[in-house]
Amino acid sequence: MIEPPTLETERLVLRPLTPEDGATVARLAGSREIADTTISIPHPYSEKQARAWIAARTSQSSTGKEMVFGVAIRQDAQLIGAVGLREMDTEHAQAEMGFWIGVPSWGRGYATEAGLASITFGFADAGLEEIVSFTSAANVRSRAVMERIGMTHEEADDFDHPELEETDPLRPHVLYRISAADLAH
Ligand SMILES: CC(C)(COP(=O)(O)OP(=O)(O)OC[C@H]1O[C@@H](n2cnc3c(N)ncnc32)[C@H](O)[C@@H]1OP(=O)(O)O)[C@@H](O)C(=O)NCCC(=O)NCCS
Repeated sequence: MIEPPTLETERLVLRPLTPEDGATVARLAGSREIADTTISIPHPYSEKQARAWIAARTSQSSTGKEMVFGVAIRQDAQLIGAVGLREMDTEHAQAEMGFWIGVPSWGRGYATEAGLASITFGFADAGLEEIVSFTSAANVRSRAVMERIGMTHEEADDFDHPELEETDPLRPHVLYRISAADLAH
């Protein structure tokens, strides 16, 4: 079984999620603010659902298709969010990055720091050559994180999320990319 390694950044530890994280994940990811900008996180979000989400991440990691980390503060080990790579495609050396951080920890650069660490891991340790990330066009905070990481956006990559109604404000999506060569510069 492939388990996510533990990565350390200046202020954070990125570590495998465990079933014991379920209550914290449900509380943080279940907030209204997170539901307002994401389509894959349920709201309300029960501990049982969070545990099932963690179990699914662990099982996907074991197949090598994902590498999702819990994001914790280095100083006190407090879990504040999650970041990771999904749809890891070794044939095309590509993956998607996703992230969320609990509202009490917004505005401190943690998402940018964690996102950059997961991308660096993807290029340096997982053999990837390109990582993409997408979000609804209106999700300015998420787009700002992608831009701070050094990802770039081209209008030609914009798309309407196929699972959302035409009237849903989250339907228009933007896609950002970064290559191993971009990160090296
Ligand atoms: C997207 C999300 C993670 C962004 O969180 P965030 O706190 O805005 O992002 P960062 O952690 O990079 O913090 C950036 C802010 O911290 C500030 N900051 C403070 N100290 C900093 C530091 N040391 N380094 C960098 N930025 C710092 C920046 O100036 C910026 O401030 P601003 O919000 O006033 O512009 C968060 O809004 C979220 O979880 N949203 C819901 C889930 C979601 O949308 N996920 C994306 C879909 S893939």
